[in-house]
Amino acid sequence: MSVQGRDDEETNERMSSEPVTQLGEQARAEMLEIVARYPEAQSALLPMLHLVQAYEGYVTPAGIEMCAEVLGITEAEVAAVATFYTMYKRRPVGEYHVGVCTNTLCAIMGGDRIWEDLSGHLGIGHDETTEDGKISLERVECNAACDFAPVMVVNWEFADNQTPESARELVDRLRGGEQVSSTRGPRVCSWKQAERILAGFGDDAADEGVQAGPASLVGRELADERGWTAPQGGQQAIEGRGEKK
Ligand code: FES
Repeated sequence: MSVQGRDDEETNERMSSEPVTQLGEQARAEMLEIVARYPEAQSALLPMLHLVQAYEGYVTPAGIEMCAEVLGITEAEVAAVATFYTMYKRRPVGEYHVGVCTNTLCAIMGGDRIWEDLSGHLGIGHDETTEDGKISLERVECNAACDFAPVMVVNWEFADNQTPESARELVDRLRGGEQVSSTRGPRVCSWKQAERILAGFGDDAADEGVQAGPASLVGRELADERGWTAPQGGQQAIEGRGEKK
């Protein structure tokens, strides 16, 4: 084989092993649209990383490069943010990313049992994806929904008051291609669609379902009953402090 022939072969091999990125001119234009929402460009980084996940499924090297270039910061600075927050993934997740809360309250209310059962049922552990690419699992540390414990999230939509049985049924329906809704109403969309919404490109379904369930409203009902009000805050409090001087 000629030297030229071997060089061509090596180049082809290298190119075919380089990951193909979905990020193109449209993604760049949308990043600039996000940047324009903020007084400081760098404030746009978090939604930009969600946009990268909407295109790529996770935060790829190409995504880090594009964020850095658009914001005029280094790739190391972008990577530092992307590796700090667990909502940013460094490798592909399933079409439906399932988070099972195993933090204290959910754990004692059944979260640990749900985790064990679901992990066994799917044959995957933390941060792993089923072979068909449909479901990935993550142990989550509190979904800020303790009043509905034990709680799971699917692509960040809530599945409240779960049991091992209801959790299995939920993932089986998702794997079977059924349209599933959150226990609070909204339709569960794919991981990439959910990431696009988190980047600030809404799907006009923000008002679907209930905004606060009965368990979340108990405190407010008690306060109403007893005439309790929140301490003074905001501008009034600032003005009040000024008067005391
Ligand atoms: S402990 Fe599970 S949502 Fe808070």
